[in-house]
Amino acid sequence: MRRRNGQRNSPLPEAPSVNPPGNPPGTTGTAIVNAPPREPRPAGEDCAIVIFGAFGDLTKRLVMPALYNLARTKILPENLAIIGVDQAEGTAQSWAEHLHAMLESFVGNAASEFDIDSIDEDLWRGMADKMSYIRGDITKPDIYHELSKSLEEAEQKLHTGGNAIFYLAVADRFFGDVVDQIGQAGLADQKPDAHGTRQRWRRVVIEKPFGHDLESAKALNARILRSLGEDQIFRIDHFLGKETVQNIMAFRFANGLFEPLWNRDRIDHVQITVAETVGVEGRGKFYEVTGALRDMVPNHVFSLLAMVAMEPPANFDAAGIRNRKAEVFTAMPPLKAKAAARGQYQAGEVLGKPAVAYRNEPNVDAHSPMETYVALHVEIDNWRWAGVPFYLRTGKHMAERLTEIAIRFKPAPLSPFATTAVDALRPNWLVIRIQPDEGIALQFDIKRPGPSVQLATVHMSFSYADWFAREPNIGYETLLHDVMVGDATLFNRADMVEAAWRVVQPVLDAWQTNDDGLAFYKAGGAGPQEADALLAESGRAWRAVPQPPFEPNGKHHR
Ligand code: BG6
Repeated sequence: MRRRNGQRNSPLPEAPSVNPPGNPPGTTGTAIVNAPPREPRPAGEDCAIVIFGAFGDLTKRLVMPALYNLARTKILPENLAIIGVDQAEGTAQSWAEHLHAMLESFVGNAASEFDIDSIDEDLWRGMADKMSYIRGDITKPDIYHELSKSLEEAEQKLHTGGNAIFYLAVADRFFGDVVDQIGQAGLADQKPDAHGTRQRWRRVVIEKPFGHDLESAKALNARILRSLGEDQIFRIDHFLGKETVQNIMAFRFANGLFEPLWNRDRIDHVQITVAETVGVEGRGKFYEVTGALRDMVPNHVFSLLAMVAMEPPANFDAAGIRNRKAEVFTAMPPLKAKAAARGQYQAGEVLGKPAVAYRNEPNVDAHSPMETYVALHVEIDNWRWAGVPFYLRTGKHMAERLTEIAIRFKPAPLSPFATTAVDALRPNWLVIRIQPDEGIALQFDIKRPGPSVQLATVHMSFSYADWFAREPNIGYETLLHDVMVGDATLFNRADMVEAAWRVVQPVLDAWQTNDDGLAFYKAGGAGPQEADALLAESGRAWRAVPQPPFEPNGKHHR
């Protein structure tokens, strides 16, 4: 959610800037709702962006396409330098060519994260002209002296104002070393510029995983905070860059309708599902020491949880929002091992294609106990949520790619229907679809047309695709731009990261010493049956994966 200082009450325009359902995106028509025109975002502040891991996967798949998109939408800083750092042999030219080749491979490839029709070559050349490359060992001081010179050069020739973003697109074992070196080389100092007129800024973006457990996360925080101030650190969780995740706050706090219901009085339980169809995709080495719990839960899944469970902030500044999220984690008691279930995929078929078992993936031990699926029952022990279970699950190689937050409301009393044929009332579900088919749906019962009282379950649904044109966006654009303007709202603070690890640590400990509970599930399925027990003990059940489509004509579909 972006702040619009001083413009909160701007009048709505006469003509809507949204497309009513049924009209193709980009056309206008009479909409039944109104929205202010989209406010252009200001360009990022002049700076150099230094990418550690310049030839790595993350840089070419996500960081560079996002920078390209920012250039396309004209919100890259006017004065910019892009400096690549890596161990690989290369020059500025070969690096730019490598990145261009990757962009080209995305053209017309609807399956890629970065789906574009063509590359704007003039735009790309403008970016390539700003690129330079430093080759060397990122754990040794030498390249940092070179980097210091490059940054000075960028300041003089490209007018970056001495500002710099250090983007750590490298394996997590290097985070501490790189930050130490940045600090020791004086690169983190935010001193006034060469003319003494303007204070330069230095910011560091750190990818996940941030730590491997509570202890290592604390150690990493302590280590990087020796070289950097907390306000210089941007711990990224790319889920927070997704439009629909940011929309959760808008949906909750911009509507008077939902908030009065958003509590333990009206909500029975919440299910958060992050189901993936991909397997470990050649990342066996990483996955063998990580697993589904570490890879997805204290970061991505908890980010969704915090958005749903946080108290309304007093305003939308970074401190206000991050305090509210931190309070959610603080109110969560550490998990007991019995509140968790884990599974590993076996051979099967995913979306019609054969899939090998996890244990047969490259770089995976033939007897690996590592989980590729995890389900948890977590509690939030505060006035709003005490007694409301939050069930979370995430898994690889499941039947459908689906990220959703499903809120189940408490049932209505049945007695008014005692003299009718109705023998049960269906629950109301509010479902926030994060990806794909982004939208929101509300399920409720109505009277089926006819002479006797019979009920049917129907839904009202909002789909982003019906209302807004789709724009090329891989999710990192917002986050990168936020770093360029110094907005930390969507990034995690040290205390948030540690509080999240604290919640899952007992489960990590229990699984470390005991392989007994590992269940197996067929690739292409809904996950292991053992995870059902987490809900079954209170008479609840997981929502289906894959989700049946909403069916018209009043059929009960769930
Ligand atoms: C990454 C995990 O952080 O998130 C991957 O390491 C996972 O294992 C990915 O597949 C999911 O992100 P998205 O945006 O594809 O849903």
